Amino acid sequence: MAKQLHAQWSSRLTFILAVTGSAVGLGNIWKFPYMVGDSGGAAFVLVYLACIALVGLPILVSEWLIGRRGQKNPINTMTELARQNGRSSAWGVVGLSGVLAGFLILSFYSVIGGWSLSYTVNSIGGTFTGQDADTIGELFNGLLASPGVLLAWHSLFMVLVIGIVARGVTKGLEGAVRTMMPALGLLLLVLVGYGMTTGHFGETLGFMFNPDLGAVDGGVVLAAMGQAFFTLSLGMGIMMAYGSYLGEKVDLLRTARTVVILDTVIALVAGLAIFPIVFANGLDPSAGPGLIFVTLPLAFGSLSGGALLGLIFFLLLTFAALTSAISLLEPTVEFIEERTPLSRVGATLVGGIATWALGIAALLSFNVWGDFLILGLGIFDFLDTLTSKFMLPLTGLAAILFVGWRLDRHSVSNELGLGRTGAIVWHLLTRFVAPIGVIIVFVTSL
Ligand code: PHE
Ligand code: NA
Repeated sequence: MAKQLHAQWSSRLTFILAVTGSAVGLGNIWKFPYMVGDSGGAAFVLVYLACIALVGLPILVSEWLIGRRGQKNPINTMTELARQNGRSSAWGVVGLSGVLAGFLILSFYSVIGGWSLSYTVNSIGGTFTGQDADTIGELFNGLLASPGVLLAWHSLFMVLVIGIVARGVTKGLEGAVRTMMPALGLLLLVLVGYGMTTGHFGETLGFMFNPDLGAVDGGVVLAAMGQAFFTLSLGMGIMMAYGSYLGEKVDLLRTARTVVILDTVIALVAGLAIFPIVFANGLDPSAGPGLIFVTLPLAFGSLSGGALLGLIFFLLLTFAALTSAISLLEPTVEFIEERTPLSRVGATLVGGIATWALGIAALLSFNVWGDFLILGLGIFDFLDTLTSKFMLPLTGLAAILFVGWRLDRHSVSNELGLGRTGAIVWHLLTRFVAPIGVIIVFVTSL
């Protein structure tokens, strides 16, 4: 389906809801806290916040701007805008890399979505009620050690994603995002409140916000930058695609600020909810991808009404994961739909099943294929590293270089409604700070 002239978002709010649906997800609540724990706490948080502000925000705006000007899917948009500006159509490759990144990310994202589903159901059964840290930890290890169980939950999660995308009802989810996101935020705050009662909240604040700058090395910076891309759904063409539905009047900078603040606050609050439990129970902050699954159930297990709260929490987390997963599958489906005679349903099935199959390899790397390493990493870690740390930043870099160096400077600052100072700041950010930042991070970490 050629999307030359398509309908536009009915309002700025609808647009924000769609973008938030993609941005807020497992990246905030599952991945951010464990990366903070893995990378030594506050030093990571500080670098992360710098990456969000100096790299993430300008790239978000750049992707929207490219999308709004191009009015097409990311691949065609980049190719055509480049052509209009007398540039090489090699820019289209950038769009292609985005499609591939989405496919790779969804394969392991769905495995974690499956964990969240499984914890939803476990909460219903009151599995966590009154359990101690050891039992909760064993429950999680038991899940990891069972390929069949992991496969069942991963499959269920993918069926939900495929079902929604195949029916093309993704837009219908915005209303739900509007109520579910605040509810998720509220529950996180309840958990922070619980954390304050454990007596380890001060320790948590120090851990997250009192950086030991000596701990900042190339690895920390690369991880923080990758996470900034991942959490804002950048470097995949998703934001470009959303931008193509954006009306002329929408203020890109203001909207980006809203989205970025929302996403960042949710991630930080998730950290504030999780680390008090880590410290109170003598758990290891660098427990890795299982961190939220070995901590939060302890809170739900000891709060009164915790079984119900746990159920609602993991349900909302699953929902947030689903709205992100949909945006991860969409580019692959559109790609297949445009290049093959397949219908939407057919394209979704092909793309979805391929993603599901790769996800099986990812979940096996937690157990039977644990010893199979690619460049020293298990399959799950390899997929995560390849996409977050390399593919997303490289594609995002191309987008910002395109806006900074290839588009007419004055038309861009007009479009963004920038005054003189704003135009200079934007110019410096897009031409130098953000791209050079990304390049330096690559060079120093290799
Ligand atoms: N931003 C989503 C999250 O934080 C994940 C995602 C990454 C979604 C890339 C789309 C594209 O969970
Ligand atoms: Na996010």
